[in-house]
Amino acid sequence: MNKSLRKTVIAGNWKMNKTATEAAALIEQLIPAVEGADCEVVICTPYTSLVTAVEKTKGTNIHVGAENVHFEKSGAYTGEISADMLVDLGVEYVITGHSERRQYFAETDETVNKRTKAALEAGLKAIVCVGESLAQREQGVTEELVRMQTKIALQNVSAEEMSRVIIAYEPVWAIGTGRTATAEQAQEVCAAIRKLLVELYGETVAQATTIQYGGSMNAGNADELLGKADVDGGLIGGASLKAADFGTIVKAASK
Ligand code: PGA
Repeated sequence: MNKSLRKTVIAGNWKMNKTATEAAALIEQLIPAVEGADCEVVICTPYTSLVTAVEKTKGTNIHVGAENVHFEKSGAYTGEISADMLVDLGVEYVITGHSERRQYFAETDETVNKRTKAALEAGLKAIVCVGESLAQREQGVTEELVRMQTKIALQNVSAEEMSRVIIAYEPVWAIGTGRTATAEQAQEVCAAIRKLLVELYGETVAQATTIQYGGSMNAGNADELLGKADVDGGLIGGASLKAADFGTIVKAASK
């Protein structure tokens, strides 16, 4: 285990929050809150705020991501956004496979794979989300489930492309519930994901891949979660909308 081999990444997932006008105001507050951070800082915003976010964060240490992407390059897909469209705006990251998309928008492991591939082919960095439901945890299938989700999401993703992939372990029961996984639970699953990456890509790629924890990470618990050997950052929902809290998490990740 060597954390120095990989980047620590704190990414905000704004979900369906903030108008572009409100986004501009929040970014004004975020810039000083995360200035000088010794980790990668990303904000993933709704599509409608991306132009504002890219513009406002120019010359700062904040990187911008989208929350989803379509897998086709272009065509008759009313309401969808392609990877090339995001790249053209100056967007650098995209989240794929978030559990809310799996739950409410019929996302499957196969479409997560297609979106991830499309993002990588366009030159984006992908934050690929995996995680079990409460029922699955109670059934004792967490590790199998997360291994399967990760393995399918990464079908045909090359070792070279893995340098632009982050895996975010987000137990569904911990998202937006205030019920955080314990640091031990987060570590256990993040370590299992890394073990899978060793099997798929070998030790060097596995050690270089950032694996985040997400699910009610906040200013109070970030320190402990990020202190674990295989937890290389966080995907932050609720707390990413409060500049001071997000700043505290970024500081915890900079230690
Ligand atoms: P939360 O969301 O921090 O509000 O639990 C995390 C996420 O969904 O990425």
